[in-house]
Amino acid sequence: MNTIHFTNLPGDGIGTEVMSVALKVLEKTGKAHNFSCETTCHDVGGIGIDNHGTALPESTLKACQAVDAILFGSVGGPKWESLPPKEQPERAALLPLRKAFELFANLRPGNLFPELADLSPLRSDVASAGIDVLCVRELTGGIYFGQPKSTRTLEDGQKEAIDTMVYRSGEVERITEVAVRAAALRGKKICSVDKANVLETSVLWRQTVVDCVKNLDPTIELSHMYVDNAAMQLVRNPNQFDVLLTENMFGDILSDELAVICGSLGMLASASLGTGKNSTGHPYGLYEPAGGTAPDIAGQGLANPCAQVLSAALMLRYSFGMENAAQAIENAVKETIRSGLRTGDIAQGGTAVGTEEMGNAILSRII
Ligand code: IPM
Ligand code: MG
Repeated sequence: MNTIHFTNLPGDGIGTEVMSVALKVLEKTGKAHNFSCETTCHDVGGIGIDNHGTALPESTLKACQAVDAILFGSVGGPKWESLPPKEQPERAALLPLRKAFELFANLRPGNLFPELADLSPLRSDVASAGIDVLCVRELTGGIYFGQPKSTRTLEDGQKEAIDTMVYRSGEVERITEVAVRAAALRGKKICSVDKANVLETSVLWRQTVVDCVKNLDPTIELSHMYVDNAAMQLVRNPNQFDVLLTENMFGDILSDELAVICGSLGMLASASLGTGKNSTGHPYGLYEPAGGTAPDIAGQGLANPCAQVLSAALMLRYSFGMENAAQAIENAVKETIRSGLRTGDIAQGGTAVGTEEMGNAILSRII
């Protein structure tokens, strides 16, 4: 029997509750698909600050270096909001983790389950068709990490802050390759998002994407869109898109837009993949739900575990190459939603069940 090695980092808020469901689902899936899980739990985020004085403790980083993937919960909460921005859990845990493992490729699938169409803020005739768009976001470059990045006081007493947007062609090539591979398995369409009417980095981005797609797979239908137009088109007619390919910050913004039109953050998973191969020959990856720590319902057993469970499915697919097992989990979630069971975030005023009941319903549908 195969053993898969990963760390689980539940983080803060609802993280612990939904992680425990995801781990049970993985164990059950292992029984049906012939693998076992070896996983250890480590502090990250606010609880890292509380227990170790830092959002990304050295011991957590070390543990992650010794495994093939990270199953991540979510970090942050009111308790740490008064810290300086650089020390806040989200920034001080996630950004260094992305950099440490060079997790350059962020995949955010936007799926609106037809049964949940009423949760989408889009007009019902648009939402009822369902949504299926994959956002492929570059995650370790651009304005998030470019140097110089600083704040100083000028001679006239004003303060000046600088962020720098930098891209090298190699960074654009490798993320384009991920988008091409993903598109080949879907609708074979990529829309590359940039601001090439204003930004130098976008001119380079567009040219590189064109060359790269031509080389890798000329059968892919490639289009380009300025980011402002893309933001508008995404709410007007989301299904004109198949794969959206974006640089770091544009992808940050568009992926939130994609998430909200898909109805509930509690349903969306994401994968961040690295450059090298892990010990199983697949990309190292970090897998996390798109929603936050939901401090308002944390600790009450009310959170929707679906996004965490679907993140575990992405982990099996991308970091362990277990497509059938990944689909078993995705189908179990789909069937649970189809059965009418709802947590509070997706109940629309109807009867809601708690995290555990939702989790058990998913577990019972794993085959
Ligand atoms: C995300 C988040 C992060 C980002 C923050 C928390 C640093 O918004 O994963 O989209 O901006 O990338
Ligand atoms: Mg974001």
